[in-house]
Formats: sequence, C-alpha cells, structure tokens
Amino acid sequence: MTTPLKASMVLDSAFTIAPVDNRIYGSFIEHLGRAVYGGIYEADHPEADEQGFRKDVLRLVKELQVPLVRYPGGNFVSGYNWEDGVGPVAQRPRKLELAWGTIEPNWVGTNEFADWAKKAGAEVNMAVNLGTRGIDDARNLLEYCNHPGGSYYSDLRISHGYKEPHRFKTWCLGNEMDGPWQIGHKTAAEYGRLAAETANVMRLVDPSIELVVCGSSNRGMPTFAEWEATVLDLTYRHVDYISLHTYYGNRSNDTPNYLARSLDMDNFIEAVISICDYIKAKQRSKKTMYLSFDEWNVWYHSHDQDKKLEKWTIAPPQLEDVYNFEDALLVGCMLISLLKHADRVKIACMAQLVNVIAPIMTRNGGGSWRQTIFYPYLHASVYGRGVSLRPVIKSPVYDSKDFTDVPYLESAAVWNEEQEALTVFAVNRSLDAPLQLECDVRQFAGYRVAEHLVLEHDDLKAVNTEEEERVKPHNRGNAAISDGKLEAALPKASWNVIRLVRTRP
Ligand code: AHR
Repeated sequence: MTTPLKASMVLDSAFTIAPVDNRIYGSFIEHLGRAVYGGIYEADHPEADEQGFRKDVLRLVKELQVPLVRYPGGNFVSGYNWEDGVGPVAQRPRKLELAWGTIEPNWVGTNEFADWAKKAGAEVNMAVNLGTRGIDDARNLLEYCNHPGGSYYSDLRISHGYKEPHRFKTWCLGNEMDGPWQIGHKTAAEYGRLAAETANVMRLVDPSIELVVCGSSNRGMPTFAEWEATVLDLTYRHVDYISLHTYYGNRSNDTPNYLARSLDMDNFIEAVISICDYIKAKQRSKKTMYLSFDEWNVWYHSHDQDKKLEKWTIAPPQLEDVYNFEDALLVGCMLISLLKHADRVKIACMAQLVNVIAPIMTRNGGGSWRQTIFYPYLHASVYGRGVSLRPVIKSPVYDSKDFTDVPYLESAAVWNEEQEALTVFAVNRSLDAPLQLECDVRQFAGYRVAEHLVLEHDDLKAVNTEEEERVKPHNRGNAAISDGKLEAALPKASWNVIRLVRTRP
C-alpha cells in the first residue's frame, strides 16, 4: 500500500476572506450549438412545458441552485440584433449567425429567456452588443427590458405581452472585445471609450444597474494586462466589475500538470486585482473594482470534432465536451480558487450550462444527464454559501511541467454562521497516494461531522452517459472529529466535501 501523504490545516471563524457572493455559482447560456435549442428549449420534446422549455433540464438546473445566468453570449452577442428575438415568433427572422457559422431561428429571445430564468430561479446577467452595434442599441434594449412603461421601447415590451419590466440588474458591456475572432474586435482604447460612453448612457436609462466591462479573453492574450490597464483607465468610474475568462485542457495527457492549472487561475485573478488597484491608486479613487469571472471551465475535448461540423444549420452539436473524472477534479480546484478570492470575485459563470461545455447534457427528443463536472459545481453551489474562511494549510508539494510547489491538498472552507454549518472543500491532487488531513477546528466547539462526500474513481478518464452515471459522489468518507481535531483520509485523486454542523447538548 502507498504511504499516505500528510497535510494539516487550521480553521478559525476569525480568519475570514469575505462573505461569498452567491453569484459566483452563476452559469452561462449562449445562442450556440444546442445550449438553447435542444438544451433548455425543445418545443416538441415529451417533457416540454407550455412554452417549450424542457422540464427535465429545468429540474437539473434547479438542483444546481444556479443563482445567475449570463445571456445571450459570448461571441454570439457581438453580431446579435436583439430586436430579432422579440415580438411574435412567427414573424422573427432566420439569420446567419456569424460567430459560430449557424442559422439562428430566433425562436427564443429576451422575453422567453427571462421567463426561463424565472422558472429556474436565476437572475439574468444580460449582455449588450458592442461589436456591430453600440450606445443606441444598448440604451434601447435596456429601456425595453427595465423601463416600466410610457416610452417607445417599454411600451413595445408591453405590447409583446410583458407588462412588468424584467429589471435585469447586471449587464455586460460586450464580450471578449480584445479577441481578433470577435465580431467588431477593437483596440483597448477604442473599446474603453465606447464602453465608458455606453455605460454613461445606460445609467441615464436605469441608474440601478451594475456593469461589467470586458477584460482580456484569457491570460495568454498578447495584450493581457495592458488591455485591462487601458480599459480600466477609461472606464473606472463607470463600471462595477471587470471580466475574466479562462478554459483549461489536458491535450498532452499530463494529469499532474493539468490538475495544477487552478494555480494559473489564482495567478490570473491576483494579476487582475493588482491592475484594478493600480488604476484605483492612479485615479485617486475610493472605489474598489470587483471581478466577474464570467467564463470558466474545461474546454478541449470537442475541438477536433467541431472542425468537421457542417455550416449554416440550426443548433448543431458544437462544443459538446464529454467530461471525464479528472476534469471534475480540476473543476473542483477552480471552484476552490473562486472561494479563495471571495473578497474580489463577486460574480462567476461556469461556461456553459447545457450541452455546450456544460455540466448538463441532453439528447434531442431523449434524456438529460449529469456530466462528471456537475458534482463539484453542485456541492459548491449548495454548501458553499456563507463566509469564505482563510485556511492555514501545510501540504506536501510537487513540481509539474508548468508549475512548481503545487500543493497536493487544495482546500477552501465556508462557514455559515446562521445555519451553524462549516463546509470544507478539498481536492487531493495525488494520483497514487491518499492524503491524511488533520484540521484544527477547536474554535468550532460543538460541531460534528454531518457528512463526508467523496468523488473518486479508479479511471481518471471515466465519463457519464445517458445510460450510465459512472462518476458520482458517495458519502462513505471517514472524516471524524475528536478533541477539536478533524481527521479525514482523502482518497488519491479525489474531491471531498466535509460538512460539519453544530449539535446542541
Ligand atoms: O463559451 C464559449 C465561447 O468562449 C464564448 O462564446 C466566448 O466568449 C469564449 O471565447
């Protein structure tokens, strides 16, 4: 038997990072592939409701308790005319969708999505088109969505059957405008000016909204950092959040290196925080800029198959990554990274929600199922609400191709004082040794282990299908508390959720 690794941790309710903003458990639905058509919506599906939304999918979304969903894109939004998606469906145009090379039938648009989000119990994080369009359309769309009535666009909404305004609170000022692939791609100076002016006008329409300005599409962009600095210098007083996007993959099949990628996410977040704070200092501002990590996930399995897809069809199976067990481990580490930065990351969206690089998969006309990554997302969303604590961790480390001193133990903890619940999320990155965790919880007197959930599998490449859920958690973890010490064996390559609750004498 392999000798277990040993790691220690101290948790104390005084060591707080910040209250967790529940919106970090947000997600994303883009008009892309089968996310909308065949995903959340399929009018002739046996489980379709009166509006054509799949009830089986809604059940899974509700299980995840997704608090916020970004919509309608993504790259899609940069070529989207929102007017195509409102009013009588029969009169809506079929359009060439240029970002992804498909046909957009516009069966679902802003109002239907607002209805779907309400059914799912989620807020909408709406995006405006700053690719082919600009200030005028942004203010018209906002007037259409949020103004109560008595103006052209609000009355148009009412005439479409929506008397009550949608009151969307959070708005993205375009998408990935630094990317050469983006329709209407701009330099940082061009985008920064447009975003500032658009923000200004949108706030005249509705001063209660919150605005997200585009950061870089990923940390590897050649303009990264310079883009953030230029854009923030032009928009700092107009916006509330700057966006971050990242996707990881394991194309070289180097799992130790792959599981360390969440350290890159940590570095990315910390780099963007420092740029925000540099601009804050430069502008002598009192305001703190927050981060919206509004696209994050694993994305690489579908790259090759997507190259073979036929163009100009409706809802082809694009970006349908089938996730394996090791992807779930990395997703767990990425969720921990978000929790470790709860003081600055206030919104995050797992990209995406259904079929397209998603935790939920469906078959047209058939079933729906949970991918492997569904589980860490579910656990964090359900049990990770409260205050994020700063654990003091001592863990053995390893080196991989791109990283040094990678801790075998990756962990975060959330304390919910009201519910008297403390949840420890922990990944053991070791592929061959269990990790014996010893955690000082003396400060949480009276707490006992309610449950120790474990996601583990002998095969790192195991996947879930419609027929068989091979990767799913069990609750046979051995965590136990005695004398203020929590001890648990974290199996090799595992995601763990240790739930402590207070018992009254
Ligand atoms: O989520 C898929 C795509 O990834 C989005 O449309 C785009 O914003 C990003 O590049």
